[in-house]
Amino acid sequence: MDWPALQQVVAGCQACGLCQGRKNTVFGVGDTQARWLVVGEAPGENEDLQGEPFVGQAGQLLDNMLKAVGLNRGGTGAQGVYIANVLKCRPPANRNPQPEEVAKCEPYLRRQVELLQPQIILALGRFAAQSLLQATVPDIATLPLGKLRGQVHQYNGVPVIVSYHPAYLLRTPQDKARAWADLCLALDVAKRVPAR
Ligand code: URA
Repeated sequence: MDWPALQQVVAGCQACGLCQGRKNTVFGVGDTQARWLVVGEAPGENEDLQGEPFVGQAGQLLDNMLKAVGLNRGGTGAQGVYIANVLKCRPPANRNPQPEEVAKCEPYLRRQVELLQPQIILALGRFAAQSLLQATVPDIATLPLGKLRGQVHQYNGVPVIVSYHPAYLLRTPQDKARAWADLCLALDVAKRVPAR
C-alpha cells in the first residue's frame, strides 16, 4: 500500500469498536520526507475533532520541545518532522488504549514507518514505547518508562528513543529536563544515521 492508499484505508477503518465513536481518524501530520518521526499514544478530544495529532495543550508543549531542536510540524527539509499516534481513533473519555485496539492499529503505524523511512523515531510515553518495542524488548510490559530512556532501541531497522509523553510532562514539569536530555540524544543519533 502506498501513502494515499494507506490514508484511505485508515479513514474508513472499522477494525475495532473505536470507529463507532470517532468524528475523524487521525492519520498524522507533517513532512513525509522528514528525518524525524514522533509517535504518541492516541487522539484526544481536540485531535478527534480536528483530525490532526497533538493539537491540544500537550501538543503545544510538544511543538515547543520540537522547536527547541529546530523542528516544526509545518517544516520541511532539516526542520521537517512527521507526527503520528499508535491509535488512529480516539478512545472514549481518553481512556488507555486496549491491547486489541493497539493490535488492530499496529499495521498502520508499521506501514507508515516503512513508507516514511525516518532516521529517528521518538516514542512518547508507555503506549508508543510498548507498541514499537514489544518485539525487541521482551519484558517491556513490566518495565517502567524510565528504564527504557537513555538507550537507542530499534524498530524494523530504525533507531528509537523513548521519552515521556507531553501530557505527563504537563503534570510532572520536574521531568522536563529529562525529556530535554532525550531530545538531545535523539538529535545526536539522527545526525549519525546516514541520510537516505
Ligand atoms: N496525546 C497523544 O498521544 N496524541 C495526540 O494526538 C494527542 C494527545
